[in-house]
Amino acid sequence: MSHGAAPKPATARRSENLAGSVTIPGDKSISHRSFMFGGLASGQTRITGLLEGEDVINTGRAMSAMGAKIRKDGDTWIIDGTGNGALLAPEAPLDFGNAGTGCRLTMGLVGVYDFASTFIGDASLTARPMGRVLNPLREMGVQVEAAPGDRLPVTLRGPKTPAPITYRVPMASAQVKSAVLLAGLNTPGITTVIEPVMTRDHTEKMLAGFGAALSVETDAAGVRTIRLEGRGKLTGQTIAVPGDPSSTAFPLVAAILVPGSDITIRNVLMNPTRTGLILTLQEMGASIEILDPRLAGGEDVADLRVRHSELRGVTVPEERAPSMIDEYPILAIAAAFAKGDTVMHGLEELRVKESDRLSAVANGLKLNGVACVEGEASLTVTGRPDGKGYGTPGGQAVKTHLDHRIAMSFLVMGLAAENPVTVDDATMIATSFPEFMDLMTGLGARIDATA
Ligand code: S3P
Repeated sequence: MSHGAAPKPATARRSENLAGSVTIPGDKSISHRSFMFGGLASGQTRITGLLEGEDVINTGRAMSAMGAKIRKDGDTWIIDGTGNGALLAPEAPLDFGNAGTGCRLTMGLVGVYDFASTFIGDASLTARPMGRVLNPLREMGVQVEAAPGDRLPVTLRGPKTPAPITYRVPMASAQVKSAVLLAGLNTPGITTVIEPVMTRDHTEKMLAGFGAALSVETDAAGVRTIRLEGRGKLTGQTIAVPGDPSSTAFPLVAAILVPGSDITIRNVLMNPTRTGLILTLQEMGASIEILDPRLAGGEDVADLRVRHSELRGVTVPEERAPSMIDEYPILAIAAAFAKGDTVMHGLEELRVKESDRLSAVANGLKLNGVACVEGEASLTVTGRPDGKGYGTPGGQAVKTHLDHRIAMSFLVMGLAAENPVTVDDATMIATSFPEFMDLMTGLGARIDATA
């Protein structure tokens, strides 16, 4: 695993006409949930297209440590689950590496069990707030031991009988929503989650697919009420994981920025809770054609044809943030090459991602000559379409703070900047998109490890 591994800098250089057709690896959110729900369900789950990034592999290890039998046969991951309510006590701490999703969802999944489970992670995950998940678990009767500020390491001990709760999610977070619902799976009665602002809905859709008794009601104001009846049966499923739109974002923006580019990205998840970046780039003038929209395994998917485009700055509506929350770093790079200002609001959640992404992006942009203003929860980027003067001739490196998306975003910047762009560490890219370097260089991108 990369945490603790020596950092490896990488450099991207101005490139010409990216071309070709690529298939993006599986969606990270759906991959985590496939391992979790497959590991919990009765009978067999078969998964193709799973993202084999470090984050997801750590979730698989955690499920194995709690009794799931996981193996790979050719391209298919095969899981024999424990049955709902029958996870085993893990003998050692569960190490989630860099992964907030793996850690927080598993806290919900196993935290309500009547035994101890301990959660650890890398330096990035250890600095991230866990109170957002620990608080509802406390309400359900879980005893919590945590480092100051509700940080890792965390040990959870569930009560004899957990209490179902009604929980209004205080921030736009699919992780918190999911953790409460997963705790509800092993809680008698109805667990209710009220979601004022809709976030990615993979947990609801997939749990229903596994046979959970779950209902979703949306009122006139868009507030969602999700009810889950606990202690029901989950049954193993066959899952084909579609391509990750958050990973798609990197070749997508690269093709828009590099003159002469024309690429096709196949089998991209188009769930509307995930497509905010595509919409925003289209509003900025990007040429993104959505080809062959279709349904696959209950999800919208499509192929994207993307061509080099002149961009203009826009104001991104705040309410769009949940549908592109992981895409602001790469949007900021696109904005650096747009005519005029791009204004982004409602970014408070960026401060608690794998790094403080708002300051990491602003500092990286400034280092590479881009004018920007960082607010408490906002970012304004003033673009320069020709990229003149961007990058650092001396090779000063962007600090990535153990954050894969900061690394990939600035490497994309280097493909269109006048001077090279260097990042201090590319190893974390393996957490979500191990194929990134090969896929990008295969399209013609000039990226390499820095000596
Ligand atoms: C995720 C939810 C988001 C996102 C993360 C994956 C998920 O986090 O940033 O990469 O799979 O549920 P929040 O729900 O905390 O915003």
